[in-house]
Amino acid sequence: MKAGREKKGGNYISARDTRRISRENRKITDACEKQHRRKNVPESEYVTKMRDPGNVVEFDNVHTYFFTDIGTVKAVNGVSFEIPQGKTVGLVGESGCGKSVTCLSLMQLVQRPQGQTVSGQIRFNAGDRVLDIAKTPAEVMTGIRGSRISMIFQEPMTSLNPVFRIGAQIDEVFLLHNPGMKKKEARERSIEMLKLVNIANAEGVYMMYPHELSGGMRQRVMIAIALALRPRLIIADEPTTALDVTIQAQILDLLRNLKDRINSSIMLITHDLGVIAEMADFVVVMYAGRVVEKGTAEDIFYRPCHPYTIGLMESKPVVGRHVDRLYNIPGNVPNPINMPDYCFFRDRCKFRKEPLCGGVYPEMVRLSETHEVACYCSEAVLKYDREELFKLLGKDQAEEGKA
Ligand SMILES: Nc1ncnc2c1ncn2[C@@H]1O[C@H](COP(=O)(O)OP(=O)(O)OP(=O)(O)O)[C@@H](O)[C@H]1O
Ligand SMILES: [Mg+2]
Repeated sequence: MKAGREKKGGNYISARDTRRISRENRKITDACEKQHRRKNVPESEYVTKMRDPGNVVEFDNVHTYFFTDIGTVKAVNGVSFEIPQGKTVGLVGESGCGKSVTCLSLMQLVQRPQGQTVSGQIRFNAGDRVLDIAKTPAEVMTGIRGSRISMIFQEPMTSLNPVFRIGAQIDEVFLLHNPGMKKKEARERSIEMLKLVNIANAEGVYMMYPHELSGGMRQRVMIAIALALRPRLIIADEPTTALDVTIQAQILDLLRNLKDRINSSIMLITHDLGVIAEMADFVVVMYAGRVVEKGTAEDIFYRPCHPYTIGLMESKPVVGRHVDRLYNIPGNVPNPINMPDYCFFRDRCKFRKEPLCGGVYPEMVRLSETHEVACYCSEAVLKYDREELFKLLGKDQAEEGKA
């Protein structure tokens, strides 16, 4: 593959290379699929123990790859973090850094067969037992998905089926997971759920089709479906991106209240740092498939230490602070197929120190009980006063703007 690339320069891959890669990929993915589809797998293979019983989910060095014809995309490349019981964990990072793939791995919904969680453990406390999701067979996972872990997607119109009435779609959740439940009882519980998510005229909405509802109402219906079985974990992947600001605030409030009422945890993905600041107890910052910094919301917002997190914080507008131009992190994310061996952020980093930063990928360093960062220069960064640091970052770009 390398020779082919070098010959033509850039990203050229010959048809022969593509065939070879796809042959090799098929071997790997066929083996994974065979393992995944086995029936009557003994529990001992996938039942495990939590490291800390206070957590609902523990990601432990998870790798999820896509085996494509042009190479292996390491979408999630060694991710480790925890979601404590009853807390909200926010996942932030640039588009394409692997946030959605991380939560799809937890649901076992990564696009198969090319997408596979190839190593690492995803421990999930399902209440009665602890499962290692990466090894859980498909038949067991069907019972977990929707009842113990549920997901709210970004676009409610595409998640709801346009040809079924709202009521039928909520009833289905109850009927599927409670064999033997009568239709009448399912209907009562569905209407109760619609009332719970503050939909006025619940009986009327029960009989409507998705296109008859507004965006905000559709998202409420999605929340009703997601919470119907009182899951232990709710994954919300950009739940409010398609909504206007006032509805966004209402939906977030609703989500937060309901979470506390049913005592579950939330894994929240969003590009909106304001939403994270309002909702999250803990924040995990991802960059190019890896966690670069994690900590409590306070740690990340008031004491960011990874140069990428600092850039992220600087790129948001702050009320009362006047700037000519908002900061943008210069450079691009590296090509996900050919990741460097050194820190993935090095080529865009203002604080890099050679030869340290050109060496092996930095390990996670613990800065406090809750705060961890993967950076060689975090100590140097810490020495700066925050204001001074932001000024330092913004200065060059302000000068570029004038030029
Ligand atoms: N089905 C797929 N096949 C190949 N590559 C994929 C597939 N799905 C995702 N990827 C790749 O995995 C990487 C991570 O994607 P992911 O969707 O998790 O990003 P994200 O952080 O959720 O981005 P966004 O903020 O835009 O939603 C990307 O480089 C993407 O191209
Ligand atoms: Mg995404």
